[in-house]
Amino acid sequence: MSASSPLYLTLAERLAVLIKSGTFTAGDRLPSIRQTSREHQKSITTVLEAYRILEDQGLIEGRQRSGYFVKPPEILKGQFAAAQKRPATPIVVEQSAIFEAVMDSVADHQVVHFASAAPDDSMVPHAKLSTISHAIGRRLGPVALRYTPPMGHRVLRAAVSRKLLGSGIDAGPDQIITTQGATEALLLALRATTKRGDIVAVECPTYFGILNLVRDLGLKAVEIPVDPVTGLAIDDLERALKKHRIAACLVQPNFQNPLGCLMPDDHKKRLAALSARHGFTLIEDDVYGELSHHGPTPSSIALFGGDVIHCGSVSKTIAPGLRVGWVVPGQHLAEIKRLKTIQAPWNASMSELIVAEFLEAGGYDRHLRRIREVYLAQCTRLREEVIRHFPAGCQVSQPRGGFVLWLEMPPDFDSEVFAVRAIARGISVIPGSLFSSSGRMKNYVRLSCGRVIGERETAAIATLGQLAAELMQR
Ligand SMILES: Cc1ncc(COP(=O)(O)O)c(C=O)c1O
Repeated sequence: MSASSPLYLTLAERLAVLIKSGTFTAGDRLPSIRQTSREHQKSITTVLEAYRILEDQGLIEGRQRSGYFVKPPEILKGQFAAAQKRPATPIVVEQSAIFEAVMDSVADHQVVHFASAAPDDSMVPHAKLSTISHAIGRRLGPVALRYTPPMGHRVLRAAVSRKLLGSGIDAGPDQIITTQGATEALLLALRATTKRGDIVAVECPTYFGILNLVRDLGLKAVEIPVDPVTGLAIDDLERALKKHRIAACLVQPNFQNPLGCLMPDDHKKRLAALSARHGFTLIEDDVYGELSHHGPTPSSIALFGGDVIHCGSVSKTIAPGLRVGWVVPGQHLAEIKRLKTIQAPWNASMSELIVAEFLEAGGYDRHLRRIREVYLAQCTRLREEVIRHFPAGCQVSQPRGGFVLWLEMPPDFDSEVFAVRAIARGISVIPGSLFSSSGRMKNYVRLSCGRVIGERETAAIATLGQLAAELMQR
């Protein structure tokens, strides 16, 4: 189809590909006209016209007042239906000595937790998940516990494929590989696009897990500043691209950890264009994308083209212990499949089946609506407590999604000393130094609002405020 084809024809063709590749299978209801219009950024009339074409092609049928459904493929006689802020110089990433102490504190139940960016137990839909788990056990018996195929269970890949339409990603189940959390997805993406000694661009600040992978793979990092409102500073990336041969850029466009900011669509478009022009891969980490505080789920950079590998998981939205994630490798499919087959050829079978069913029929959308509201309320509450208890001279971020706060303290503040003293008082926080390798974030602190904020947490924030004031007086 040429670029000048009418919009409705282009849309009809995209939807037909999704049906033929198994994203939607016989009997599935297509998203409503309004939802498709929003997801594909097309007018209602364009969507209506595209659906009419699909009806004419015999792919879907409209049912009165119920929507549009995928028709079973017609089986012809004798034929079977087919199975379906400034660019820094590249630096070697060092392991921070405090990393393990902070991680150990996360496992300690006596500690008041502001360190771990994990959902509170009360946010995990465990009753529903265990009902689903029992039903799967009854239905499939030991079959549910076999090895998964290397790309992951197809039911899960189909469910993820449908879910990703909400972010503007058109990827059928055969273009998705499920992984053990987003961490494995990011590792595969980096292994497929870089080799030892290569330079990658990372956000500054960024999630420390990304820096750990960069270090372990023997890569060098160029740190690109993150704007607290619009995310990765694209002008700075462009300058870095002129100076260095950058193999990949790791970016969290939606509700970045730790800043909680959201990259506007026109920046995403620019990034995609830069990737195409300079020939580097954008590794998109989108674990918080569905946790918008206001407004719909934002789009993936993949919507705008370029060489994008999309990584995600259910760790922030359903439960981190399921270890279910995915990678949409785009043009790196064959290589990522090859690496996955060697590195960890199988995933947790039962977890995959549970997540597939929860996404499809377990009330996932309702669950998501609830947790978004709770996270907004918790971030607002924790922010107010910080403003009340921390000394003048501290700033606190205003996230647009997700559930972490980023605190800026005066320039000579040592967040590692602060974190050690906090642990000694039974409170865990993450020092900003873990979010950058160049020492630029030493005067920052990350607080997670994943946990419900009760009296114990409020008292802990007052203690942290006092500790901060003591450190600032020295
Ligand atoms: C930005 C970001 N990416 C990836 C991860 C890791 O996700 P998973 O637990 O699915 O491996 C985290 C967890 O904190 C994160 O914050």
